[in-house]
Amino acid sequence: GIISVIISILSLIIDDKTILHEDLAIVGCSDSDGEMMYALDGEELWYADFKKGKGVDPQPPFVVHTSYREGVYEQAVANQQVCRSNLKVCRSAMKDIPDENDAPSNLVIYPRDEVELGEKNILVCHVSGFYPAPVNVSWTRNGQKVTEGTSINVPFPSKDSSFTQISRLDFVPQIGDIYSCSVEHLALKEPQTRTWGEETLTRPESGPGPAIFCGVGLTVGLLGVAVGTFFLIKGNECS
Ligand SMILES: *[C@@H]1O[C@H](CO)[C@@H](O)[C@H](O)[C@H]1NC(C)=O
Repeated sequence: GIISVIISILSLIIDDKTILHEDLAIVGCSDSDGEMMYALDGEELWYADFKKGKGVDPQPPFVVHTSYREGVYEQAVANQQVCRSNLKVCRSAMKDIPDENDAPSNLVIYPRDEVELGEKNILVCHVSGFYPAPVNVSWTRNGQKVTEGTSINVPFPSKDSSFTQISRLDFVPQIGDIYSCSVEHLALKEPQTRTWGEETLTRPESGPGPAIFCGVGLTVGLLGVAVGTFFLIKGNECS
């Protein structure tokens, strides 16, 4: 389902310390799909999960959560009706204008936290610069498809009217594992793929570690002191 109509409301709030904030609400719909999301300063605060029939607050537990009034999900459902009827009007008005499709311009895969073998972490697949939304993201571990522990956020609009989506995979870094994320988009003939793990998980001890550099430094330093002391004594003897 392609989300074709996006109504975005951008407003600026200035709080008591005169910091500029950017508030964003988006409504989008297609024949088969829909989106309603509220964000502040580029962070998703709330979105409607129309498949599960409820609102989702995706913020991690350590942030102070914004509270939403009763009926915000019902409002989102009502907005979908409005969006679909707008979509119908736009379609007939714009039927002679060809659709523009932009493949993702940027695709990166990276671990959220510093990698510690055997320690829980999250791999992030960051896709941006595409139009229209959404993309499909799939993950593999050593060539095998992985679905458990994956999630994707709703499409986030950028100022240039392209979209960004971020998919996540819970994982535990282990030696020899290789991960990939593949992205499907309307404008791509084949999925675009990025892999992660070759550098970090196959050669964890590549190159001399910091201990060696420290040892060499210390040796050179001590040698300097010894040479210095030698000449100091020599100098005293001569005078
Ligand atoms: C995403 O996956 C769904 C379900 O498999 C499919 O119908 C849709 O065409 C896919 N979208 C893209 C952009 O490839």
